[in-house]
Amino acid sequence: MKVFSEIEQITSAIEAFKVQHLTIGLVPTMGALHQGHLALVKNAMANNDIVIVSVFVNPTQFDKEEDLKKYPRTLDNDVLLLESISKDIIIFAPPVKAIYKGNTVSQIFDFDGLEFEMEGRFRHGHFDGVGTIVKKLFEIVKPDNAYFGEKDFQQLQIIKKLVSKYHIPVHVVGCKIHRESSGLAMSSRNTRLSVTQKDEVPFIYKTLKTAKKHFGTKSANQITKWVTKQFENNPLLKLEYFIIADVDSLKELKRKSKNKKYRAFIAVYAGEIRLIDNIALN
Ligand code: PAJ
Repeated sequence: MKVFSEIEQITSAIEAFKVQHLTIGLVPTMGALHQGHLALVKNAMANNDIVIVSVFVNPTQFDKEEDLKKYPRTLDNDVLLLESISKDIIIFAPPVKAIYKGNTVSQIFDFDGLEFEMEGRFRHGHFDGVGTIVKKLFEIVKPDNAYFGEKDFQQLQIIKKLVSKYHIPVHVVGCKIHRESSGLAMSSRNTRLSVTQKDEVPFIYKTLKTAKKHFGTKSANQITKWVTKQFENNPLLKLEYFIIADVDSLKELKRKSKNKKYRAFIAVYAGEIRLIDNIALN
């Protein structure tokens, strides 16, 4: 298992792969790996000669200092997990210094408005931070393919926009949401849930599934009202937003159009812990 922390080391390894015309798949992560991440890694392994998993808790995408501080950092365990899939996976886990060179700020991007919807409304500057780190990783790793989860659907669409706007020669692959048997979308944040909260949070996906059932017969507005009510009646979970949106523009659905695809997106607080999820509606 190779774990690189310096840019120079990984750059020379990548140069050697490029000379041999080996294809490179990149899976960017912030570590605290779980089966959702591993599904992305397996997808990358099936379609590339070399797989690189980056593990980097990116400071510029956190809007709350506390959230950055509390983000789980479990590199030793991440290495073991990846090793259990394949010893050929390369891990790139640079220190903040190496990536930001003492200037830990975001580049400011224009993602044609995608960045102002949903997460963008509640996490100020988040997508500039994500764009900054992903662009840097693409420049360092020069992957042929890069893998992102639909769990963060808005992020996936923004990365697609990033590569098209900046003409970055990377194929962005979206991967399905991996869930616990309870339906809860896997997330590194789930480890912070208390036992009581863990029992309660499957309610989020259950509500999304019912919203999907209603989609054929009810308007987006009616469904949104219904979902809001469900959470008002739940003392342990606080709804931040529920929105049905067009998957391309991420704009809220006003009137259904036959040839468009829609998803329902949700953000919920369980105590201090913020959870997001989404579901395809048609
Ligand atoms: P992180 O939250 O670690 O997620 C890394 C990748 O795993 C993302 O593409 C995310 O969508 C995917 N993922 C997480 N949970 C998943 C699940 N349950 N099912 C499917 N995919 C899942 O997202 C980030 O890190 C960062 O913003 C990053 C892109 C690495 C930039 O810092």
